Amino acid sequence: MKGIILAGGSGTRLYPLTLVTSKQLLPVYDKPMIYYPLSVLMMAGIQDILILSTPEDTPRFEELLKDGSSFGIRLSYLVQPKPEGLAQAFLLGESFLGTDSACMILGDNIFHGDGLIRHLQEAKKRAERGTATVFGYPVKDPERFGTAEFDKDGRPLRIVEKSPSPQSNQAITGLYFYPQGVSSLAKTLSPSERGELEITDLNNLYLQHGRMEIDLLGRGYSWLDTGTMDSLTDACFFVKAIEDHQDRKLCCPEEIAFNNGWIDKEELLKAATRMAKSDYGQYLFKLAKLKEKTH
Ligand code: DAU
Repeated sequence: MKGIILAGGSGTRLYPLTLVTSKQLLPVYDKPMIYYPLSVLMMAGIQDILILSTPEDTPRFEELLKDGSSFGIRLSYLVQPKPEGLAQAFLLGESFLGTDSACMILGDNIFHGDGLIRHLQEAKKRAERGTATVFGYPVKDPERFGTAEFDKDGRPLRIVEKSPSPQSNQAITGLYFYPQGVSSLAKTLSPSERGELEITDLNNLYLQHGRMEIDLLGRGYSWLDTGTMDSLTDACFFVKAIEDHQDRKLCCPEEIAFNNGWIDKEELLKAATRMAKSDYGQYLFKLAKLKEKTH
């Protein structure tokens, strides 16, 4: 399976913060926003990842994340010339994906929860067997999202994009797993009224074909989007609260890479030394020491 992070868009709701930088490079407490979705893909065990962004911002992501080797992964970059819809990622990413299954995550989505890795790995296995997965999460303002509709027995009927009167409060999050061939299916879509290739239209095709699972995330999970100043601030406090409480970092790519055996202690210490003056760097030192103790 290969991964795609869609990190474009103009971030106009966050102006002036995003006048000269990308939203997905803004800090969410102690690390750039894109570290969070990148960590989710890494937790799913994905090592080949394409980052799609605007013509202006793509070089900035490349400067930050380089070829991915410090995280034990392989990163590629591609420009999305215009924000013409989430499903466009599969047209742009067609040759990158080749014959592999795909997981796409939006660059501004943050996931956290015990057991998340299990959900991710199950979705990955399903995609490899031909069934797509999206995740539902209960929200107070479902009209802002794609939402799932269910029949009286709780079977998913369809997904509706930004319905003014949603039938359920289950928002479809920005994390999508698809079997191989998703690019061919995305090519059959036409732009919506807002001129975008809608991910919801793509998801409905999988539902109609009986090849889609909607995995409802329960109480033990948090999904945060960071599209407005308030939600971005909330996300910063959320990460800080958890990290202070547990003395562990959320979505630290070096830690995930180290635990997955994708980088060795030497590589971890290299990253730690580079950032030694920050709390993040000190955390990496601590991880390396901990490993010494357990061996
Ligand atoms: O966050 C989950 C929601 O994401 C889903 O519930 C919706 O079904 C889905 O359509 C999407 O909703 P939005 O319309 O709110 O997405 P938005 O246009 O805000 O784009 C999401 C992110 O993707 C944002 O950071 C900008 C980026 N983006 C968006 C488009 C349309 C791109 O990089 N390229 C694009 O072409």
